[in-house]
Amino acid sequence: MKPHILKVAHVPHFLDAHLDQHFQVHVADQDAKPGSLSSIAPDVRALVANGESTIRAALLDQLPALELIAVFGVGYDGVDVAAAQARGIAVTNTPDVLTDDVADMGMALLLALARRILEADAFVRAQQWPTGPFGWSRSISRQKVGIVGLGRIGSAFARRAAAFGMEITYTGRTAKPQAPYRYQPSLSVLAEEVDFLVVCAHGGDSTRGLINAQILQALGPHGLLINIGRGSVVDEPALIHALQNDIIAGAGLDVFAHEPNVPEALRALPNVVLTPHAASATTQTRQAMSDLVYENLAAHFTGRPLPTPVTR
Ligand code: NAP
Ligand code: 8YV
Repeated sequence: MKPHILKVAHVPHFLDAHLDQHFQVHVADQDAKPGSLSSIAPDVRALVANGESTIRAALLDQLPALELIAVFGVGYDGVDVAAAQARGIAVTNTPDVLTDDVADMGMALLLALARRILEADAFVRAQQWPTGPFGWSRSISRQKVGIVGLGRIGSAFARRAAAFGMEITYTGRTAKPQAPYRYQPSLSVLAEEVDFLVVCAHGGDSTRGLINAQILQALGPHGLLINIGRGSVVDEPALIHALQNDIIAGAGLDVFAHEPNVPEALRALPNVVLTPHAASATTQTRQAMSDLVYENLAAHFTGRPLPTPVTR
């Protein structure tokens, strides 16, 4: 008898193939109405979600046999972990395997913005080059970068920034004595000090709106903001206001407040580079994330320790 699992998010085809082979897979909306899962609820022992999923206690209440929530993603800010743990439900995520790709995307956004790659590309395509030279862009080497959240991804971004000869400072709840970078406990002071601010922190209530109007003011009219963490960390209306009014110079964003909806006002701005929450979306990393989700499910159902449990 294959264990029954419930999928509430899209996952890559190679994970779907594994799931179909080893489990009885059901699919439902994460906001399934109370009672709507009654025909499968007594059997469902695991839930598969992703980094954008919102898994509320109300869903868990509908699934009395649930033992595991396997998140396809490292971020689990959408999962009510306290509610899961109170019901004895384990939660797993996919740390490490996506770190390099996400840090690469952060550097790509910074380079695209500072070196004006998209504008330059449009300039060449529009045959403007014969009419005169393209304007200057700005260096990233020897410039000051501030990292908000020196975790796995923040550290990987810092290693890339070091290779580019940047001056690195970071902020977070705690200093990392082993890290070879300067710690600035105040986000506001950090924003004032640097040319580029790169958000690598997790989402959730503790970081909601951390990058607000005051921080953007401190970053200043030459400052660039990069967000590869979570949309919720940035006050999006304040960011749009700052970009529209030259309070900051530009922004490179992979994550947004209300994905997949990006405000028209943001999309209309020339001083932004936007990607659709795609930082970990390479074939190689999607495969590795899929493998890790499957390994967690397989470990759970064969009584082995979970490879990557969320503990908090
Ligand atoms: P991690 O190792 O847990 O790092 C998270 C960092 O956030 C920690 O270093 C933590 O710093 C920091 N943080 C917490 N509260 C903070 C605050 N108030 N101010 C500044 N920093 C704070 O996780 P990770 O693997 O690097 O992943 C980080 C996040 O990236 C994920 O949670 C997810 O939201 C996002 N992500 C995005 C994509 C994408 O596609 N764009 C892909 C993967 C992940 P302390 O140690 O000081 O607490
Ligand atoms: C994924 C992410 O795009 O890992 C995370 O936290 O946000 C991204 O890697 C996402 O989990 C897939 O939906």
